[in-house]
Amino acid sequence: MDVDDTAARLGVPVEAVERVHRLAGDRPSAPLPARADALAMLDRLAVRPDDAAEIMAGWPDPDLPLWTPELRWLLDRSIALVRADLGGYVWLPPGPELPRERGPAWQHLYVYAYLALVGVVRDYHRDHGIPDAVSWVTLADLGRNLAIDRRMRREGWPVMQSWLTLHMRGAVYELGRLQHHRGDGAIGLHIPDSGPLTPEAVSASLDEARAFFPRHFPDERYTAFSCGSWLLDPQLRDYLPEDSNIIRFQRRFELEPYEEPEGLDADVEVRRFVFRTLSTPLDQLPRRTALQRAIVDHLTAGRHWQWRQGRFAI
Ligand SMILES: CC(C)(COP(=O)(O)OP(=O)(O)OC[C@H]1O[C@@H](n2cnc3c(N)ncnc32)[C@H](O)[C@@H]1OP(=O)(O)O)[C@@H](O)C(=O)NCCC(=O)NCCS
Repeated sequence: MDVDDTAARLGVPVEAVERVHRLAGDRPSAPLPARADALAMLDRLAVRPDDAAEIMAGWPDPDLPLWTPELRWLLDRSIALVRADLGGYVWLPPGPELPRERGPAWQHLYVYAYLALVGVVRDYHRDHGIPDAVSWVTLADLGRNLAIDRRMRREGWPVMQSWLTLHMRGAVYELGRLQHHRGDGAIGLHIPDSGPLTPEAVSASLDEARAFFPRHFPDERYTAFSCGSWLLDPQLRDYLPEDSNIIRFQRRFELEPYEEPEGLDADVEVRRFVFRTLSTPLDQLPRRTALQRAIVDHLTAGRHWQWRQGRFAI
């Protein structure tokens, strides 16, 4: 294949194509589920009807001209790239950010990759004795993310396409209120957008994890829970009441000294998680909740939010 030509046709940088080529090599891909089974699978993955309809409309049938040779190459090699790192737990872009507005194949290419890998990761889950219910509720984060991306008018996808490869590689497990991320000595905590973060729900989820990891990953040793988030910014204490769920969540953690994270802007992340828009001007953002007012007032005053890391012993 011609890397320059492929990159030009895909509308992405040459280095991005070279990276896929290098990481995927000629490693094995995985087939998509049969079209006839796809709707049932999408339903299991909590994909809503409007998103499912789009995904079905762009389904990579063998002869569909929508799927150019470059797109087919990228889909096949993206699956291989993620599959090659099965069991890995570091963030992994599955391929370049695509110009998704070009059509349904472009828009959902990494969703098709996800669907192809469901069978692979289900086998991995089975090898680790992970209960079916945990397996499916974990994988159903796909539907949640697609719905958020729709709310965000497609602005959120570049992060999600990498985030979702954690699920595909058996790195993340949803146990009650939180998602738990395997790592080096610490279980990383993620907080999905699924209702209030009550202390009771958090404690129950931590208890589940304390039993889950020794049982299903006996070779891995965890001594701490960790989290990196805008939710851990201590400046939030200046705005939110002591008994709010976010402040009570913060109190569990010992914070690491502040370091500006590389490639991540906390002001952008706060907009992502609190307003679900990255492009709305400050003075047009809603001020319905105490947190929304806090975010806007802080930024309007020229101040910045922080992405903070914290941990506590298991
Ligand atoms: C984390 C989360 C569940 C906390 O919500 P919560 O349990 O309601 O939190 P609190 O009790 O501390 O809320 C305090 C105030 O902030 C508001 N608030 C909290 N999270 C909010 C959010 N994401 N958007 C808008 N308002 C929010 C609450 O409505 C409340 O305001 P009110 O008293 O005027 O109603 C919520 O922020 C959320 O769903 N976030 C998206 C996921 C996320 O950020 N994950 C972490 C990624 S790093």
